[in-house]
Amino acid sequence: MQFTNRINRIQVSATAALISAADQMKSKGVEVADFGPGEPDFPTPEHIKKAAMKAIEENRTKYTPTGGIMPLREAIAAWHKRELGSGYTARECLVSVGGKHAIFNAACALIQNGDEVILPAPYWVSFPDIIKFAGGTPVIVQTRAEEGFGAKAAEIEKAITPKTKMMIINSPSNPCGGVVDPPEFEKILALCQKHHIWLMADECYSHFVYEPHKPFSIASARDSKSNVIIIGSVSKTFAMTGWRIGYTLAPEELIQAMLKVQSQCTSNPTSIAQYAALEAMRGTMETVPPMLAEYTKRRRRIVEGLRAIPGVTCEWPGGAFYAFPNVSARLGEGKDALAKDCLELSRLLLEKAHVALMGGESFGAPGYLRLSYATSLERIDEGLQRLDKFFSRAEAAS
Ligand SMILES: Cc1ncc(COP(=O)(O)O)c(C=O)c1O
Repeated sequence: MQFTNRINRIQVSATAALISAADQMKSKGVEVADFGPGEPDFPTPEHIKKAAMKAIEENRTKYTPTGGIMPLREAIAAWHKRELGSGYTARECLVSVGGKHAIFNAACALIQNGDEVILPAPYWVSFPDIIKFAGGTPVIVQTRAEEGFGAKAAEIEKAITPKTKMMIINSPSNPCGGVVDPPEFEKILALCQKHHIWLMADECYSHFVYEPHKPFSIASARDSKSNVIIIGSVSKTFAMTGWRIGYTLAPEELIQAMLKVQSQCTSNPTSIAQYAALEAMRGTMETVPPMLAEYTKRRRRIVEGLRAIPGVTCEWPGGAFYAFPNVSARLGEGKDALAKDCLELSRLLLEKAHVALMGGESFGAPGYLRLSYATSLERIDEGLQRLDKFFSRAEAAS
């Protein structure tokens, strides 16, 4: 079959491919130690579920305005102001089918053939494909493990050309938990303003940061509004991945352009999920600190466990819920090598040790593995044991 160039430029999300391979194994009865899914293992909080049930009982099951019900747009703007210090109105807010959809809409509205988009690596798997689908070219800027994988304005400046249309900062980041410190973020903003570049800030993990970091939005900086696009989501903060609600905060003109895309694509996000998200935005934030406390414990366990494995180094992630160890000492052709690269290593780990994790190649970071620790301490321990055995056996055999 012949497909469009647009389709041929992109691939199925590598995360989705891993989840499907791990699921196939599980369906055959294999106990997989699963570090794959980037989603909280906590249930959606009760008050949010109740709001959805109430919405069904009250027959709030019809089309809504394409960009989301007005109370939700107002509540998102108010929540963002309260939690992260911005100053948006409901007219500067668009509700979409998850944060991914929000990013896709913004890319369709702003990026076209010939445009360059600066993307710090390691990056979230979907960014390059969304950029390419829109016709743009991702321009990758490497960040450094020893600097906590935080993007640096000085490095970014070197990548700016007359074709640069946008840059994307995802802080805290998936896959490596990198956090951009507020002063550096402000320098990046100034750079974008100087060069008339859009700054997209993906804040999906904003509330999962570890000491000494604090939740931060670049939208709290003075005069940030004109070229900043904030992408947010209820998926992680409120353990609502399946509800599919995300949002954009941006200048009204851009919101209107994105609304056009959405109106010809999905129409409104699910009405019931919107009422659940409304409760998330208006209701208590008390459910968030216990999740963060649990992630904090798991982070310690997994990073310490990984560091104890021969040939593995691992930085402390500043936020999100991913450990990102470097295993390059165990790759290649040498006598300690387990595989030629991390794609092969992750395939071997799934087949032979029944551990599901992602190879860093998918994130622009060869030599690294991504392990989600949105899973119980028991499962983390089990997975670490299997990894240790796999890495040690290969060492003994060599
Ligand atoms: C960095 C990042 N941005 C955006 C998303 C999209 O989240 P959702 O579409 O569930 O809101 C994810 C999900 O994993 C993510 O990791």
